[in-house]
Amino acid sequence: MKIQIITLFPPMFEGVLGNSMLWKAQDRGIVEYSIIDLRQFGLGSRRTVDDTPYGGGDGMLLKPEPIVAAIEQAKKHDPDAHVLLPTPRGKLYKQSEAKRLAADTNGLIIVCPRYEGYDERITKWVDEQLCIGNYVLTGGEIPAMIIIDSVVRLLPGVLGGETSVEVESFQDDDKSVEFPQYTRPEMFEGIKVPDVLLNGNHGEIAKWRKAQQ
Ligand code: ADE
Repeated sequence: MKIQIITLFPPMFEGVLGNSMLWKAQDRGIVEYSIIDLRQFGLGSRRTVDDTPYGGGDGMLLKPEPIVAAIEQAKKHDPDAHVLLPTPRGKLYKQSEAKRLAADTNGLIIVCPRYEGYDERITKWVDEQLCIGNYVLTGGEIPAMIIIDSVVRLLPGVLGGETSVEVESFQDDDKSVEFPQYTRPEMFEGIKVPDVLLNGNHGEIAKWRKAQQ
């Protein structure tokens, strides 16, 4: 899966995409990340990407021309890619959305807005507007990372055991919660691992885990 990210802050992605499972997914050829610096598409010698809002108001808005030019460039590499726009005004992003995006063989183009927002006309070039939670962040980069992490871990071959994806929390959005787990030592600071997990009876363990969910 090709994932292209349009951002004014490419370094923000280095740590997240360059480590752990997201890095391994690229190393294994399961996913290919490409960071597109929105500044490159800025206007004039100062590479301007923002301007004041019509009608007045605080802050600056991202201008439409640089964003649309960046999306069009990304589309040249992946014409069928799905264009996502993280925004607090979008549809609430849940596990079911992650599954849908992971199952789709098309790539993703994620546009990360900044400042006080963006010119609404860019939404004509966007397939989906997604909100990662009912709070407001300073930009779309962290929501983009959350979307990428939740999608990439579902791609076949990214996580070790297939079952670790199947049994886990939030399988069907927020209806089920994963069971508690323990590792050595058996006793820690006076807190003991539940006996049922120590007796090797897999039927009882399964029953206990189900009851805990
Ligand atoms: N940008 C700022 N806040 C956001 C949120 N909660 N979800 C998606 N994009 C955002």
